[in-house]
Amino acid sequence: MSAAFSIDNVHVVTRADSALRQSMSIISRIKYSDLIDVLKLQVLMDSFSEALGIANAVLDVDGTVIVHAGWQDVCVGFHRVNAETCRRCVESDTSLAESMMRGAPYAIYQCHNGLVDAAAPIIVADKHVANIFTGQLLTEPPDIEVFRRQARQYGFDEESYLDAISRVPIVPKERLESITRLYAQLAAMLADNGLDRIKELVAREQLEKEVRERKIAESSALDFATRLQVMTRRHAGAHESERRRLARDIHDRVSSNLTAIGLGLGLIESQLPGDAAASIRDRLSITREVLKDTMQTAREISHDLHPAVLEYGGVYPALEDYARKYSGQTGIVVEMTGKDLGIRLSPDAEIALYRIAQEALTNCAKHADARTVTIEFNGDAEHALFVISDDGIGFDSTWLSNGWDTPGLGLLSMRERAEAIGGTLTLDSAPGLGTRIMVEI
Ligand SMILES: Nc1ncnc2c1ncn2[C@@H]1O[C@H](COP(=O)(O)OP(=O)(O)OP(=O)(O)O)[C@@H](O)[C@H]1O
Ligand SMILES: [Mg+2]
Repeated sequence: MSAAFSIDNVHVVTRADSALRQSMSIISRIKYSDLIDVLKLQVLMDSFSEALGIANAVLDVDGTVIVHAGWQDVCVGFHRVNAETCRRCVESDTSLAESMMRGAPYAIYQCHNGLVDAAAPIIVADKHVANIFTGQLLTEPPDIEVFRRQARQYGFDEESYLDAISRVPIVPKERLESITRLYAQLAAMLADNGLDRIKELVAREQLEKEVRERKIAESSALDFATRLQVMTRRHAGAHESERRRLARDIHDRVSSNLTAIGLGLGLIESQLPGDAAASIRDRLSITREVLKDTMQTAREISHDLHPAVLEYGGVYPALEDYARKYSGQTGIVVEMTGKDLGIRLSPDAEIALYRIAQEALTNCAKHADARTVTIEFNGDAEHALFVISDDGIGFDSTWLSNGWDTPGLGLLSMRERAEAIGGTLTLDSAPGLGTRIMVEI
């Protein structure tokens, strides 16, 4: 699979795509006047009109005038004043606007008043957003007689009308086209800047939206993680007290009854008549053996569930006890170093350390192929340090840096237990270098 198709890239492309789609949909709704600084455009068009002596106007596609500069006196003072000549002006505007709507790249129109106007579309991001109109002007020297007749026909003051006509610029057709197009390009450039600004705005808004959404997702994930942690701790607490209760029940009710039964059997045996059948004595003896074995099993179960020594002696002697049995069963030597803290930790801390050590020893028997495990205590009631290390095969623990995505539950529950009592658990392991688990409280 090529890098271009990796999930991350698809993600980035999709995001960019959606930002682009969003900005395109915004552009389709946007008007030319939203893209530009109208005041700046007005200043620019005024300067050009002054420099070139050619009037201009920018109109939105719906016909709204955005800016206009340098009207000709002949239009303002004469043609637009008389109803008939004004109608002709409007005719000229309409004809040019229609050409623009049909998609013409440029249009020129000689109005019935004898002047020339031109228009070009303003295109922004491939969209026809407005039109630029230039004029009114002449493309060749005026035929004075025609205008004189026009003055008489519409009742204009002949002298001042001809004077106004003489001030109308004469621009050859080819030059007019390039001037009009230049205007359109300038107007489009201004709008392009505005468009970039809007795209930036859209992208920033999109980014902010994503950050907001991510924060919400993170905080709900955090909520969930916190709830899960609380539930796990409660569950571990409930589990522990259930084990303690069962251990007590077995000790107080089952074991003591078994002891009573044993005593009863002993009494029965001692009171048997001397000529009692040998088969009865054998049966009694076997029953007392089974009973002894059952009492031993009950004691072990009770001890496994919750070692009484943990309560009266603390974690160090409880682990010494456990280690002795563990070594007997597995052949792995357990060395206890450091010192019995002498001080009692809280019952929760003691049970947590005991369970952590149990799981570490179980892992060692299951996975490590070790010969020796060392359990080390140090510190005081304020700051206790508890280290369990083995000389086994170790393992590649790099997955721990990936959010403790462990294959089993043992390591996770060790860490959870350490954190539940306000401690931290650190694990060091590497293939061939053994495993070391350190709990600091
Ligand atoms: N002392 C160790 N030596 C070698 N590998 C170990 C040791 N402790 C843990 N591991 C490795 O880490 C993995 C995760 O241990 P963890 O206790 O979380 O799960 P598990 O023992 O496989 O299963 P579970 O504890 O849920 O029964 C083990 O499967 C093993 O590969
Ligand atoms: Mg395990």
